[in-house]
Amino acid sequence: MEYLYGLLFGTEPDTTDVDARHALHAKLDALPDRDAQIALTADELRLLKAEMRGTPLKRQHGGGDELFVRMRSDLEEDHDAKTADAVVDAYGASPLKPNPLAKRRPSPDLLQLRKAVQDAGPLHDLISERQLSSSVPKERRRTLETALSAVGEWGFDVWAVVDAFQGDTLLAARAVVDAVVFEARGFRAGSTSHLLRQVVAKMLASYQDVPYHNCLHGADVLQAMHALLNLSPSFDDALDDDVVLVTLLACLSHDVGHPGLTNNFLVETGHKLAIRYNDASPLENMHAAVALNLAKPYLRTRPPEEQKGARALWIGLLLATDMKEHSHQIYELERSLAKAKERGTKYDACAPAHHVPCLKLFIHACDVSNPAKPWAVYRRWTSLVMEEFWRQADLERERGLPLTVPGRGATDLAKFQLGFISFVRPLFAAADRIAGVEMGLPLRRIDATARRW
Ligand code: CMP
Repeated sequence: MEYLYGLLFGTEPDTTDVDARHALHAKLDALPDRDAQIALTADELRLLKAEMRGTPLKRQHGGGDELFVRMRSDLEEDHDAKTADAVVDAYGASPLKPNPLAKRRPSPDLLQLRKAVQDAGPLHDLISERQLSSSVPKERRRTLETALSAVGEWGFDVWAVVDAFQGDTLLAARAVVDAVVFEARGFRAGSTSHLLRQVVAKMLASYQDVPYHNCLHGADVLQAMHALLNLSPSFDDALDDDVVLVTLLACLSHDVGHPGLTNNFLVETGHKLAIRYNDASPLENMHAAVALNLAKPYLRTRPPEEQKGARALWIGLLLATDMKEHSHQIYELERSLAKAKERGTKYDACAPAHHVPCLKLFIHACDVSNPAKPWAVYRRWTSLVMEEFWRQADLERERGLPLTVPGRGATDLAKFQLGFISFVRPLFAAADRIAGVEMGLPLRRIDATARRW
């Protein structure tokens, strides 16, 4: 663990210590790969960081050179993944074929706006929500405004926004996020609001183009969180504004960089993400690493204590979206509900100690909430999630692996969906028993969805 403390409390080493530098370079040259950086001591890491600040990237020092360069980019404080390309470079491209459902060509106006949203540069700062919506063809503007006016509701139709933007999910996602974060929640006052907008734009642009786990899913989970908090106003009121903002950004970024493959697949195939994170929630760990890297410019504007709290909350929320935590989360909640009952009290979301556990339940509930949405909204999400599963199944078949997700043409969709619904329903039902939390509407919708199958 010493190397970690070295990074946390890194005091500047004396870089004039020639022997230490010499020894470090000898050691670097001998290291076989990047993961061997764990073999460096705290002093060596501090020395390396200091050297990186003053050393040209292309310096030569034998076999350790490549490692040196890669470590530099890992440790560099201002490393800034601007778009999905940077994420793909760092973590790998999705091997899934491009999504034909996203192939409709947007109009030139939309293309220009999309580029501005991706670049998130100064031009982007000039684009207001109003300009965003005015770039939509006139006849669709009304639809867009009507759809966005329901952004605070659980039954919000995200697809109406996508259709208004002629299928451009990046712009639709941007409009939804703006409507929630800057309009409804009003996080736009103050000198840091331009940084917040840039962080949002970069997060959206750092999603890969896969059928389901793309930027629209991130925006959808953010909207669902906003709506779920609206359904539970006393819990919403009990939360500090900073906590709400971090929670919304965590929702937005919770699947950033997703390659459209499951953790199981990554582990079974020895994917570099599984290797990097020792098979432990590789996707969620990656999402958290990318998200927090992108959020740095904004987080740095907050006081140090707040930064620490925001990081911890963000990481906790993202790791809580791993499906393998699902049963454990319900079990822990049932235990807390039972304990409170024994004491003759209620487990109350508004108690400060329960804020984070309840937000973890909320983000997970939002992530699996599509069966709790209106039928038409849910069905479109279902087509996309199935398409993503099928593509993974195709890859598994190609590689002679046992199928771990439903295969194309071999799935009884109704049966599979009813299975998924009976898996997620207990989460909503248990959460509904928390004082200050209202899950009645999502539960009624889940039951209505199940009846339709
Ligand atoms: P992930 O985003 O990792 O975590 C939540 C999971 O729920 C998601 O991956 C999908 O695997 C799954 N999921 C979401 N919606 C559906 C759906 N309609 N049918 C089946 N699985 C789903």
